[in-house]
Amino acid sequence: MVPMDTITLNNGVTMPQLGFGVWQVPDDEAEKAVAIALEHGYRGIDTARLYYNEEGVGRALRASGVPRDELFVTTKLWNTDHDRVRAAFDESMARLGLDVLDLYLIHWPVPSRDRYVGAWKAMEELYAEGRIRAIGVSNFAKAHLERLFQETDIVPVLNQIELHPQMAQAELRAFHAEHGIATEAWSPLGQGRGLLDLPILAEIGKRHGKSPAQVVIRWHLQLGNIVIPKSVTPARIAENFEVFDFELEPTEMDAVTALDSGRRLGPDPDKMSWMG
Ligand SMILES: NC(=O)c1ccc[n+]([C@@H]2O[C@H](COP(=O)([O-])OP(=O)(O)OC[C@H]3O[C@@H](n4cnc5c(N)ncnc54)[C@H](OP(=O)(O)O)[C@@H]3O)[C@@H](O)[C@H]2O)c1
Repeated sequence: MVPMDTITLNNGVTMPQLGFGVWQVPDDEAEKAVAIALEHGYRGIDTARLYYNEEGVGRALRASGVPRDELFVTTKLWNTDHDRVRAAFDESMARLGLDVLDLYLIHWPVPSRDRYVGAWKAMEELYAEGRIRAIGVSNFAKAHLERLFQETDIVPVLNQIELHPQMAQAELRAFHAEHGIATEAWSPLGQGRGLLDLPILAEIGKRHGKSPAQVVIRWHLQLGNIVIPKSVTPARIAENFEVFDFELEPTEMDAVTALDSGRRLGPDPDKMSWMG
């Protein structure tokens, strides 16, 4: 099997299909975890203003010696910054120590504030100036995306949403596909809470000599999702990347998809108004 390890976005930019997430990882620990991830071959890193670890991520990127053009760095615009995109972007870039960002996302639409369309227009300007290689969104529901289609010029390259076997998001994934928007899965392992203990995942894994987490990551890859598991445990960081040497059978894919119960671990995008 040839590993499908990059995704070509709707503006022609390619990104790693499997990246590394650092939510809830303090700055120093993020530096260490990203360093380990880069050693194991990860090239995509997903951080955010809100994670308070952009500086640690930046230090790890610089120390790694990995050429800049092999790295794909994502950060996100926080909810309080929709009216000050350019300043927030410059601040993130200073913390990361980068000149050009690979991907900038609106973290949440925060519909109660109704500022995300303006924020998107400001991101379009930064993109036009060449300061960002691709712009996208996170936690956008269909209605939020439709508003961008109607009121702005650029279709987001991707939407990063809560997506794991218990929240498989079939409808939104199909909508994305219709509009050329890639789907990126956050909390892809269900935050390790319960999901990975389900016997069916161990059973499928056993057939392939793989762990439940590897089965879940493989399920994402075969669905075509971009996937960004997080771990601060060196053995798990390595394990989560060893997923390009096996393939789930269609019946195994179906068995994992059948775990979907629509149960959210995070906030509902229509109701999320947290400012942090
Ligand atoms: N856009 C958004 O609003 C949003 C929201 C949430 C997350 N995200 C992004 O998505 C990334 C991933 O999501 P997440 O951090 O919520 O959760 P996740 O990746 O689904 O799960 C992480 C949890 O699973 C554990 N784990 C990792 N690999 C494992 C393995 N092989 N076996 C057993 N347990 C394993 C980790 O433990 P240890 O670390 O202790 O090893 C951690 O507790 C985030 O880091 C962030 O970049 C974005």
